[in-house]
Amino acid sequence: MKSKMLVPSKELVQDAKAGGYAVGAFNAVNMETAQAIFAAAERENSPLIIQVTQTTMAYTEPEDVAAVIFNLAERSSIPVAVHLDHGRSFGVIMRFLKMGFSSVMIDGSLQEDGKTPRTYEENVAVTKQVIEAAHSLGVSVEAEIGRLGQIGQDSGVALTDPDEAAKFVEDIKFDGKTVDMLAVAIGTRHGLFKGKPIIRSDRVKELADKLDMPLVMHGGTGVPDEDVQKGIEAGICKVNIDTQIRVAFYDRLLEVVTEKEKEYAEADAAGEPRKYDIRKIIAPTRDAMTDAIAEKMRLFGSAGKA
Ligand code: 13P
Repeated sequence: MKSKMLVPSKELVQDAKAGGYAVGAFNAVNMETAQAIFAAAERENSPLIIQVTQTTMAYTEPEDVAAVIFNLAERSSIPVAVHLDHGRSFGVIMRFLKMGFSSVMIDGSLQEDGKTPRTYEENVAVTKQVIEAAHSLGVSVEAEIGRLGQIGQDSGVALTDPDEAAKFVEDIKFDGKTVDMLAVAIGTRHGLFKGKPIIRSDRVKELADKLDMPLVMHGGTGVPDEDVQKGIEAGICKVNIDTQIRVAFYDRLLEVVTEKEKEYAEADAAGEPRKYDIRKIIAPTRDAMTDAIAEKMRLFGSAGKA
């Protein structure tokens, strides 16, 4: 572990389970998103899971984002887990383990293309392989069973079945140990919803009663606050947030660019040269992302728990 504050996510989600709150897991894609995530955690005195999703590899080398995250973790005073979100293959998991991540998700519900479903047996095989590798390094593992999606809107939604999930956490055991947390399909989807979503906190409760393990809500953006709270009461210990950060960035960016356009029109009219500064455009978006993340930490009940 590269920092004394860097911990396996297992510790954070177990504390959350005991304390009746959830830890937010926030997606970073560059320096500014990572800075906003840490700034919110520091401000709220909240434990933190900061995550990089596999698809970020199409945007930049994940080692570059990881370097920023580890620098921030080094200076941080709050406990933080650095997590791979939606790892799709054993090879990708190994790449992130090598970087020093303290937590990984193997998304065995889908094939490496991120679209085609894996069979139950394929999910078991790849998850078990990841548990063996990650646990030998003291790294926590998140797995997924069921298929996410908005009830009544998305095709292929398969809510997590409690009996199948119970069999899954047994079948994936390596050396007597299973995953540290399980992502479940309960009516959430990645991205925004079409209208008001139906979130099955009753299903969360059934799963929590049967499995006695920390459960993860993916697609946290757009879930009504009362459904988030009901989910946490029922057994959700980690809530993933990505789109809300993107929305905060975009909304503020649009405001800043609109203000800049006015300023430039005035400069043009006065015959003055325009002044360009990337930092003056990006800094306000970083502040807006920090505020949006901090709001989620208060909603999840993790504020003040660092
Ligand atoms: P949202 O983009 O809907 O917040 O979902 C994030 C997520 O679940 C990442 O795994």
